[in-house]
Amino acid sequence: MSTTSYIESNRDRFLNELFEILRIPSISADSAFSGDVRKCAEKVAEFLIAAGADNVVLEETAGNPIVYGEKIIDASLPTVLVYGHYDVQPSVPDELWNTPPFEPTIIDNKIYARGACDDKGQFFMHVKAFETMMQTNSLLCNIKFMIEGEEEVGSNNLGTYCKNHKEKLKADVILISDTGIIANDCPSIDVGLRGLSYVEVEVTGPRIDLHSGVYGGAVANPINVLCTMIASMHDENRHITIPEFYDDVEEVSADDRAALGRIPFSLDEYKKHLAIDDVLGEKGYTTIERTGTRPTLDVNGIWGGYIGEGAKTVLPSKAYAKISMRLVPNQSSEKITEIFQKHFEKIAPAGVKVKVTPHHGGEPVLTPTTSNAYKAAALAMTETFGVEPIPTRGGGSIPIVALFEKELQTKTVLMGFGLDSDAIHSPNEHYGIFNYFKGIETIPQFFKHFAALSK
Ligand code: BES
Ligand code: MN
Ligand code: MN
Repeated sequence: MSTTSYIESNRDRFLNELFEILRIPSISADSAFSGDVRKCAEKVAEFLIAAGADNVVLEETAGNPIVYGEKIIDASLPTVLVYGHYDVQPSVPDELWNTPPFEPTIIDNKIYARGACDDKGQFFMHVKAFETMMQTNSLLCNIKFMIEGEEEVGSNNLGTYCKNHKEKLKADVILISDTGIIANDCPSIDVGLRGLSYVEVEVTGPRIDLHSGVYGGAVANPINVLCTMIASMHDENRHITIPEFYDDVEEVSADDRAALGRIPFSLDEYKKHLAIDDVLGEKGYTTIERTGTRPTLDVNGIWGGYIGEGAKTVLPSKAYAKISMRLVPNQSSEKITEIFQKHFEKIAPAGVKVKVTPHHGGEPVLTPTTSNAYKAAALAMTETFGVEPIPTRGGGSIPIVALFEKELQTKTVLMGFGLDSDAIHSPNEHYGIFNYFKGIETIPQFFKHFAALSK
């Protein structure tokens, strides 16, 4: 039987099995869900065994378990290491969901659930594609699975696991579906991801909250100060003002910029989808360049003072913000965190104390387009979409990709099938049924081409 007819005849089951995974609220950020996180890992392991994987184990770490499984058919054949994550972002604010986040629901040929696209729907395509290859006698490479449970909280234990299991994880390529394509009729492959530096800042003014009339105007208000400090970190061209911030940024070549310029993109549709009347970003760069090739600084949350019902006149003692900086090749997360901290302390006016606490970070990456693995992915997508995929750059981060390169000396192919409009991390996250099955169809073609090119 061909892989396509096997997939066709198992369509309903492939969907129902994904739903079983989607029903488990494996939220890694909230320890109240750690039981569900483990339950999800166990379920993934079950599905890997059922698909035909050997040596399936939950690898215990200091945090959530990593699900490992493999099928080694012939040591002389190339080996593909599939990476994905079974943990998801919190579903809050739940009231903004039209359907319950952990009760997968199909509307308009899309699966609505937290993790539907990021990344349960996408890593599970690999489990089902593997089953398909096993059942149709068409697995032409060795395969290893490493599905982790801490991606959404920084993959803190995965680096150590990789370092300690280099031989076990040895592979010719790492294949990841955790990114997207431009559109369903315009496939693309991300060949770059941004890095991340994430800090939390605290500004302290007076020892206690004060009456904003009795003291207002005479004492530093930490919220006012924090807002001024944050506002000063962009100039009128939306350029970041932190000294040395751009020092290591690798300029994109004219050819690469021209290629980015040829990517089909409608600014009107983009604005319409987001309900904004204009975009705002660094002067001199297009929207695609801004998200793919330029570093950023964004406040992710800011709080302090009185936010309850009605009005309370108060001059608060403290103000806080969470700030992320997206990084591009050749910036270093550690260095950017350091210069941010130095700058933030320097611009703080007298009358406040500031504290900067770094959170997880990650390095930016570029993946090769000349490798056999990239060529295999491009050939596979060309076969299933009917058009050649365009190399693009993803604005998000998967910090482990740079770590794989460092610890395992192995390059990655980012063959994702999501859409920017899938609302990952947002309410009403969804994943197209089209995309789910397109992935399951394309993956066996990748294995076929990768085996052939590796000969
Ligand atoms: N799958 C995303 C990353 C992504 C999405 C890359 C779309 C390219 C296109 C991943 O799960 C994610 O959300 N990563 C986090 C970083 C992590 C350290 C929390 C991110 O990008 O914010
Ligand atoms: Mn993801
Ligand atoms: Mn994510």
